[in-house]
Amino acid sequence: MNVLITGANRGLGLGFVQHYLAKGWQVWACCRSECESLAKLGDEALHLVHWDVGENTGPQGLLPDSIDLLINNAGIYGSTKGGQSLDEIAPDDMLDVFNVNCVGPLRVVKYLKDRVIAAQGVIANVSSKMGSSADNSSGGTYAYRTSKAALVMVSKSMAVDLQSDGVRVITLHPGWVQTDMTHHSGLIDITTSVAGMTQVIANINNYEAGQFVAFDGQIVPY
Ligand SMILES: NC(=O)c1ccc[n+]([C@@H]2O[C@H](COP(=O)([O-])OP(=O)(O)OC[C@H]3O[C@@H](n4cnc5c(N)ncnc54)[C@H](OP(=O)(O)O)[C@@H]3O)[C@@H](O)[C@H]2O)c1
Repeated sequence: MNVLITGANRGLGLGFVQHYLAKGWQVWACCRSECESLAKLGDEALHLVHWDVGENTGPQGLLPDSIDLLINNAGIYGSTKGGQSLDEIAPDDMLDVFNVNCVGPLRVVKYLKDRVIAAQGVIANVSSKMGSSADNSSGGTYAYRTSKAALVMVSKSMAVDLQSDGVRVITLHPGWVQTDMTHHSGLIDITTSVAGMTQVIANINNYEAGQFVAFDGQIVPY
């Protein structure tokens, strides 16, 4: 089985890489700059690809003809100044974060969809509960919240559009996880989050096309 993962050099992306290598999959791990953490794994089933999903240049590296699972994991939080409050948020922050978190997965899918169709595969888009309007009781965090909310909709449209091609699409919430993004202040560790999300992916037929699902299998209202 072939899996391609974006933002694979650290955090949840690296966790996904380790999970699928341990299961004996061929893993195409994408990184935009620092790829040493991946190279150090020294696994024959690991294939490195340079890919900045915020750019239109596409990937550098050999890709498989068919992809059973594509995980759009790469993401950024954006400025932490003032918690992205109404007073502090800048238009350019909004656009930068939207470009990576929402347009990025769209770029990747446009580039790879024929290979996913060839495998009748699965696309998993990693969003966040922060993108759920129903869950937003604390406000602020304009750039991150809106980019992840928009990704939920992009993911749903992909699910509808690719269904007739035999491709299943799901949107994931990893939980609040101890990674660089949360300054390691999350409630759960990477292993727990990845174990949960990969279980959800494995059970994708239990969910509706494009459904927004947390690492613990709970549906996220949005
Ligand atoms: N941690 C949480 O609690 C949490 C909760 C909800 C959702 N998420 C989502 O889960 C995903 C992974 O988060 P994480 O916690 O593992 O974050 P992280 O530790 O900050 O890692 C982010 C990864 O994305 C990569 N990346 C950033 N911009 C990129 C770009 N333009 N092109 C390619 N790769 C890029 C980073 O690469 P570099 O090393 O090159 O920067 C890094 O590999 C993100 O989409 C995040 O929004 C996380």
